[in-house]
Amino acid sequence: MAKHMQHLKALREIAFDYGVGEHPDLATMARELSRTVYQNRHALDADLADLRLRNKGFERWFVAQRSKPDISVLVMAWPANYSSPIHDHDGLWGLELALHGALEVESWDRDENGKVLRMTGRDWLGPGDVSWFDADDRYAHRCRNLSRQETALTLHVYGGDLAQYFTYEEAGEAGQWSKSPQRSSIAGRLYA
Ligand SMILES: [Fe+2]
Repeated sequence: MAKHMQHLKALREIAFDYGVGEHPDLATMARELSRTVYQNRHALDADLADLRLRNKGFERWFVAQRSKPDISVLVMAWPANYSSPIHDHDGLWGLELALHGALEVESWDRDENGKVLRMTGRDWLGPGDVSWFDADDRYAHRCRNLSRQETALTLHVYGGDLAQYFTYEEAGEAGQWSKSPQRSSIAGRLYA
């Protein structure tokens, strides 16, 4: 889908502007992204309508990437009721924002070996709401589309290329966790 995404450009620029330094000011990046999404919500909905209607399952769309300082921007499509596994982000900082629909985000803390995980909180994101995390090997989360009918869309900004990460599941007995390496796949590129 090589389509020019006019209104994603402003979001990419905010991500690049604030995504600097070892510990970027994610609270300010979140506030600016949120404000811009709210102001452009109808245009963004129209630009991204195709992504909501494809019925191709969970998809990750590449928006932009920069090196030095490293940052990547993606849009993800979440089918109705779809839930991700519990996953980490390879120790990168990250920010996830609901563009359309609503997500539940469960935050988890894992020990250094990924053998013990415990849930630390649960948030609900409506359009323009943001969840973010600093660079931290221990942070993991699970995200779920709260709608039973509609595909949800989210914007993701990471402090690098999230090419690989781990998923976690309780193996057999409660309290026994196993982790599996994953490679991120890209459905296509959105030109912003
Ligand atoms: Fe995530």
